Amino acid sequence: MNEMHEKISAALDIIEHCSSLTVLTGAGISAESGVPTFRGKEGLWRNFRSEDLATPEAFWNNPKLVWEWYDWRRNAARDAKPNPGHFALAELEDQKKKFTLITQNIDGLHQLAGSRNIIEMHGNIWQIRCTKCGDVQQSHKVPLDEIPPRCGLCNEIGRPNVVWFGEIIPMEVIDRSLKAVEECEVMLIVGTSGIVEPAASMGLVAKQTGKTVIEINLEYTPNSPLFDLTILGKSGEILPLLFTSRKVYS
Ligand code: OAD
Repeated sequence: MNEMHEKISAALDIIEHCSSLTVLTGAGISAESGVPTFRGKEGLWRNFRSEDLATPEAFWNNPKLVWEWYDWRRNAARDAKPNPGHFALAELEDQKKKFTLITQNIDGLHQLAGSRNIIEMHGNIWQIRCTKCGDVQQSHKVPLDEIPPRCGLCNEIGRPNVVWFGEIIPMEVIDRSLKAVEECEVMLIVGTSGIVEPAASMGLVAKQTGKTVIEINLEYTPNSPLFDLTILGKSGEILPLLFTSRKVYS
């Protein structure tokens, strides 16, 4: 058995024997669905400046430009389908007594795959929030009829219901995430570079509170040395191997 197979077999044993599991996902899990990641060779932040497009200042400076970028991302995400990694996590949820999926992704692919207990740390690209009355509308319209879109209730400008740099994640979201980490037996960290807070610290909290932490990524991350196991590979290929599936993935 080579090292990779040994790690997969160890992870399978840990996951099969735990009754509660918390998972943290990042852009890497959606990469095989064709949704671009942020960092790395093809990452969004290679071609765009986050401060021009993903901050409240950028939005109020030029709401049309920011919305055009989100409209473009919505267009790119529209045809994306969940991949075997998303489906594996949805099936694992059915098999475990307690399961929480914390995601930094805003693409909605976990929901499409069938995951239910999801905490969307950074919001959802398919929701538009009014900048005045706060009303949140679901909208899958691509391209949008009007840029920037207007609130159906008060006609003010809407914004993507996502968390931008310089914004605070709602306390309730952080509390629920921390509770899920503190109360699980095992934590899986999938496809995240682990450098954006507070998500980056979730694995550390898990270790500090005595959990077993397994990471799946194409490469080692800054926190890898702290985790129990890091399995290098594509999440769409590795995740289905980490439990006994009762379904056939294609
Ligand atoms: P990143 O783009 O920073 O990292 C993606 C990670 O996924 C990298 O570590 C890759 O090695 C890994 N990866 C890529 N393809 C993979 C695959 N097929 N299987 C497994 N791993 C793979 O994305 P995030 O960590 O999610 O925030 O970024 C965190 C936050 O930074 C995002 O939510 C976003 C961004 O700026 C905001 O916009 C607020």
